[in-house]
Amino acid sequence: MSVGDPGHVPVLLTEVLDSIAPKPGDCCIDATAGRGGHASAIARAINPGRILLIDRDKENLAYAAVRVRESAPETRVDTVHGDFRNVAEIATKAGVCADMLLADLGISSNQLDQAERGFGFQNDGPLDMRLDRTNPYSAADLLGALSESDIADMIFNLGEDPFARLIARKVVQVRAREPIITTAHLARLVREAYGSRARDSRLHPATRTFMAFRIAVNDELNALEVFLKSIASAVRSKGGGWLSPEARVAVISFHSLEDRQVKRTFVGLADQGLVCRASRKPVIAGDVEVAHNPRSRSAKLRAVTILSN
Ligand SMILES: C[S@@+](CC[C@H](N)C(=O)[O-])C[C@H]1O[C@@H](n2cnc3c(N)ncnc32)[C@H](O)[C@@H]1O
Repeated sequence: MSVGDPGHVPVLLTEVLDSIAPKPGDCCIDATAGRGGHASAIARAINPGRILLIDRDKENLAYAAVRVRESAPETRVDTVHGDFRNVAEIATKAGVCADMLLADLGISSNQLDQAERGFGFQNDGPLDMRLDRTNPYSAADLLGALSESDIADMIFNLGEDPFARLIARKVVQVRAREPIITTAHLARLVREAYGSRARDSRLHPATRTFMAFRIAVNDELNALEVFLKSIASAVRSKGGGWLSPEARVAVISFHSLEDRQVKRTFVGLADQGLVCRASRKPVIAGDVEVAHNPRSRSAKLRAVTILSN
């Protein structure tokens, strides 16, 4: 089987490879396999090595597996449909001791572009937004269940939208009359809540609201917190059996709250002399990459190497 168009361009690819320095025979965990863009480049560099692919999205995971196997036929590729918050258990169960760990947070472009997944509002679709479609609660369920103040707090805290209270009021008024179950409907309501302010907005007014719902539906900040705690605890115990004692760990985030979590963890470990940070400042995309892949504009890469003594 040959893979079709991935529909997603990996961000900061050269910089990721520089930071985790893959070598032939290495073992890698890609905790967010996505469309296998990073993973296939890593697999080529470690061939013949081993790579464990994890993703909450079954379709992305299956696609990534085929792509990675095609790029590095001698490399062992294992897949686990799961949440990276369970990375320690997943890796231990798979018998993996990784020389490299990568997480490229958020969603892939193909997920955003598929109207039926409900992540975007360019084309109308169900208000779903679940990364893992076996999870029971969609964005429509969340929108139907939360109070006005909880919706406002969510849009303000996770979407950083200054008009969160206006949006929440609008949504709750309309919800009393009719269910809000499509992306176009929610996007229209947000635009109405913005009113004439929409003219001054560089982004579509619904962009931040959609990001907030996605992060909330998938409990993304808690998943990252648990993931980082697992890494920290492995670092304190010389890899914890699932990371090698000199493993390289790289995380790409797209949201200031995520980057803050990653920075806090990595700086804390570096201050204790347990890891070496690749750089003090996060690595960001250059103008050429941003021009070719606008998604890279908000990407921040932070990486550390575990110090074995
Ligand atoms: C930005 S994409 C990764 C793209 C990938 N690096 C590539 O080059 O194709 C993020 C992926 O992470 C997955 N994801 C997000 N949160 C996750 C979590 N907590 N556990 C596992 N996978 C997650 C999403 O389903 C998505 O496929």
